[in-house]
Amino acid sequence: MSESPTLTLRHEHELVLMVVEAMEHEVAAIERDDRVDAGRVADMVDFTRTFTDGCHHAKEERVLFPALEQRGPAAAGAVSVMLAEHDAGREAVRAIDGALPRVETDAAARRTVAEHLGLYAQLLRLHINKENNVLFPLADRLLGDADMQRLAAEFERIEEEETGAGVHERYHALAHALRDGPAER
Ligand SMILES: [Fe+2]
Repeated sequence: MSESPTLTLRHEHELVLMVVEAMEHEVAAIERDDRVDAGRVADMVDFTRTFTDGCHHAKEERVLFPALEQRGPAAAGAVSVMLAEHDAGREAVRAIDGALPRVETDAAARRTVAEHLGLYAQLLRLHINKENNVLFPLADRLLGDADMQRLAAEFERIEEEETGAGVHERYHALAHALRDGPAER
């Protein structure tokens, strides 16, 4: 086996946090200039829906969380909190996406985008901390080698079948581009 499934998820968290950092910079820029860089925010929404939800959260929700619940009933509470936080994140992204077409002409839409980018960023930082420091160590304790091998195989299948070849690389590059993108404007 190459790397452990929880290590794969930790590496993906690093990419998600690059985009979270870009979101925080965008919030500061919107508050400073009362202008939204709609192209960059659309890229953030795309990253979040395709990579964070389509790939990363799919691995957690469909593979890791059920395995955890199966091995340790005590994990059920933590898993349900993680699921609720994934949903809260999706709701924030829906609000951003819904307001985005009106940001040129509507100050309330600009505020909605800034507010929900900020909410999403704050939520994801706390959420990722919990997964990295509580949930993944729990998974490392509860799941045996055979579980881990099955998880790794199912992660690969999700990457190939659900998100498609090359998608991972493309979004890896997008996360770097967003983080390193125009800090000044
Ligand atoms: Fe995660």
